Amino acid sequence: MFTLPQKDFSAPTTCLGPACMQDLGSSHGDDLEGECSRKLDQKLPELPGVGDSAMFSPDTSYLSSRGRMIKWFWDSAEEGYRTYHMDEYDENKNPSGIINLGVSENKLCFDLLSWRLSQSDMQRVEPSLLQYADWRGHLFLREEVAKFLSFYCKSPAPLRPENVVVLNGGASLFSALATVLCEAGEAFLIPTPYYGAITQHVCLYGNVRLACVYLDSEGVKVKGLILINPQNPLGDIYSPEELQEYLVFAKRHKLHVIVDEVYMLSVFEESVGYCSVLSLESSVLPLFPRCALCRLPDPQRTHVMWATSKDFGMSGLRFGTLYTENQDVATAVASLCRYHGLSGLVQYQMAQLLRDRDWINQVYLPENHARLKAAHTYVSEELRALGIPFLSRGAGFFIWVDLRKYLPKATFEEEMLLWRRFLDNKVLLSFGKAFECKEPGWFRFVFSDQAHRLCLGMQRVRQVLAGKSQVAEDPPPSQSQEPSDQCR
Ligand SMILES: Cc1ncc(COP(=O)(O)O)c(C=O)c1O
Repeated sequence: MFTLPQKDFSAPTTCLGPACMQDLGSSHGDDLEGECSRKLDQKLPELPGVGDSAMFSPDTSYLSSRGRMIKWFWDSAEEGYRTYHMDEYDENKNPSGIINLGVSENKLCFDLLSWRLSQSDMQRVEPSLLQYADWRGHLFLREEVAKFLSFYCKSPAPLRPENVVVLNGGASLFSALATVLCEAGEAFLIPTPYYGAITQHVCLYGNVRLACVYLDSEGVKVKGLILINPQNPLGDIYSPEELQEYLVFAKRHKLHVIVDEVYMLSVFEESVGYCSVLSLESSVLPLFPRCALCRLPDPQRTHVMWATSKDFGMSGLRFGTLYTENQDVATAVASLCRYHGLSGLVQYQMAQLLRDRDWINQVYLPENHARLKAAHTYVSEELRALGIPFLSRGAGFFIWVDLRKYLPKATFEEEMLLWRRFLDNKVLLSFGKAFECKEPGWFRFVFSDQAHRLCLGMQRVRQVLAGKSQVAEDPPPSQSQEPSDQCR
C-alpha cells in the first residue's frame, strides 16, 4: 500500500481517449451512470473523505450519520434514473415517455433468453435449493462457473471452483471487495473516465474512495487498482502487454487489482482481440509458471469479476462472480454473501445456463454479437451524418460521444444543461462528469436497444441538437413526442 499522491506519481498508462484526466477529491458516482447533480459535485471536493457524516444533510433525525450519507448519494445522484422510471417509454401505453439511452443494459436478446430460461431443464425444486447453502454458492454452480471462465477466458490451466464465490451482481462484489480489502478512508486507483457508480459501490458499505489515475490532490492511502476490461464508458480493451504493465506495477506497490470483466463476451467486432487477465500466457509473463492465476505477478492480490448482467443481458437477475486465488479474500467476501447471496433456484438456473455451451456458442453469442453490431452501426451512422465525433471500439454497449461543440461554454454546468434538455425532450443519456471525465461535453450513448426505440431516441437527440446548434441559449423547439413512422 502506498499514499497518493506524490505529485510525480505515475501509473502505467493506457489509451483512454481524449477525455481522461481527473482530479482526486471529486470522485463520486451514481447508480445510473448518467446523472449526478451539481450539488454532489460542489460538495465532494471539500470532503475530508467520502462518508464524512458532517457533510451530509442533517435534515432527518431518523437516520444515523451513515444512513444520511447513503441517502445523500441517492438524493444527489439518481435524478435521471428516478425520472425515467416514472415515465418510461412504451410504444403503446406511453409513446411520449422517456427513451433510455443512458443505462448500460442489453435489451436486444430477450427473445433468446426467455426461450432458454423457460426450457424444462431450468425447472427444478429440491430441498437443498430451498435451504441455507454454502455462502460461496452451491458447489454445482461454482464448478460450472470455473469451467465457464476457463473456457471463455481461455485460461491455460483449469480454474478451480474453490476460488469462486457467487453473489448478486457486480455492484455487490465491488462493495464486498472494498469492505474486505480496505480500511475506511483508503482508496482504489482507477483510470478515468470510468463507470461512475463504482464510487457508490465502494463507499456505501466500505467507506472506501476512488482515486483517479491522473490526479493532483493529496493524502489518501491507496490499497488497490480497478481495471475494467472492456472498459466502460470507452469500450477500450487492454492489450496483454498493458495488462501485464498494470499487474507488475501493482505488485511493485503491493496493490490489489480488481479486474472487472463484465463485458468480456460483448466484444462484437471480430477484428478486436480480447484478452482476459485469466488468459495471460507465460510468454507475456515469462517469469511465472503456468498454473491458473499463479502465473500472474501477484496472484494473491489479483481478483477477477464477471456477471451475467451485461454479457447475458440479465441485469435484473442479479448474478455475479468473483474468481480469486486468495482464500482469505474469498472467505471474507463469502461471509458477506449472507447478505448478497443468490436463491438456490437462481443458482440452479445459472448452472444450467452456463453449462449449455452449444446454445451459448451456436445461438446466443453469434446472434447477440450480430444484433449489437447492427445497433452500433445504426447509431454510428446517425452520429456521422450529424458530423459528431465519437469513439468507436467494437465492444460494450455504448459509444463515447463528443458533444463539446454544443456547449456554449466549456463547463460542467453547460454539460448538465444539455443533458437536461435531452431529458426534457424525453431521451435519457449519461453525461461525462458522471464518469469523472475532466473535459465537459462528452456523453455516453447506449445503443444496445431495439431498433424502434433507438430510432426514436436518436430522433429526439437530433431535435435537441438542432435547437442548440441554431441558438445555443434558446430552449429546444417544441416537438411532437409521437414516434415517427420511420421508427416503427
Ligand atoms: C463495468 C461495470 N461493472 C459492474 C457493473 C455492475 O453490474 P451488476 O449489474 O452486475 O451489478 C456495471 C454496470 O453498469 C458495469 O458497467
